[in-house]
Amino acid sequence: MPSTALSASALADLRKSYEKAALSESACPADPFPLFERWLNEAVSSQVPEPNAMTVATVGDDGRPSTRVVLIKGFDARGLVWFTNYQSRKGQELAANPFAALQFHWVELERVVRIEGRVEKIDEVESDAYFNSRPLDSRIGAWASPQSQVISGRQTLVMNAAKYGAQFLLHPPRPPHWGGYRLRPDRWEFWQGRPSRLHDRLQYRLQYRLQDRLQDRLQAHCEFPSHHLADGPALNGTASWIRERLAP
Ligand SMILES: Cc1cc2nc3c(=O)[nH]c(=O)nc-3n(C[C@H](O)[C@H](O)[C@H](O)COP(=O)(O)O)c2cc1C
Repeated sequence: MPSTALSASALADLRKSYEKAALSESACPADPFPLFERWLNEAVSSQVPEPNAMTVATVGDDGRPSTRVVLIKGFDARGLVWFTNYQSRKGQELAANPFAALQFHWVELERVVRIEGRVEKIDEVESDAYFNSRPLDSRIGAWASPQSQVISGRQTLVMNAAKYGAQFLLHPPRPPHWGGYRLRPDRWEFWQGRPSRLHDRLQYRLQYRLQDRLQDRLQAHCEFPSHHLADGPALNGTASWIRERLAP
């Protein structure tokens, strides 16, 4: 493949003006979910590449963040759902520290959505339902790939796929180590690119009533190390969203 050298100054000069749309307070609902639904629908209908791809950031027990891309498979007022291997790096990091950040970047729309919150495994019935809706080779793949582990070569995957294909034929069950996660948002940011770097950034933060917050802190204190105390738990109907504009 021919390669073209990219000079440092050419790289530094790569920039564009963002001019496609605006995001005003008056156009934003009190609740972030309908806005997210609207933006996701617009990304799908605009035929941007992989509109359902989102970056998931987790933090290891050494305090170091890591990211990867996954596909959103559903969302509702409880949160956003994706599927993966629970024994993967992200799975292990979430087991130790159940907080994550998500990011969608819809380049053609000059939009970013950032979402933060606590992550939980979805229930097994939901994971079974989605697993059984997948194509057969993807279901076998979930057995064949020890995701995030070092393997000796590609042949390991090919041999595993053949082995599990022969074992399960047309009806592989869901591997016990594979399923869904749901992130329950307590912070959202909607970013719309604007000219002159004066972008629109609207943030939603979940605010708890004092009594709930104290209960949450006690609960969090029992379950998690102290650096998690500032984070809220699942949305339970007793909290409300604060909407505010951030400087770009
Ligand atoms: C567009 C795209 C979509 C992906 N979707 C998923 C997914 O839904 N679930 C998943 O486990 N990995 C998915 N992957 C692979 C992950 O990015 C990643 O390689 C894998 O989950 C292992 O990550 P980890 O080692 O950090 O756990 C996707 C990759 C790309 C590029």
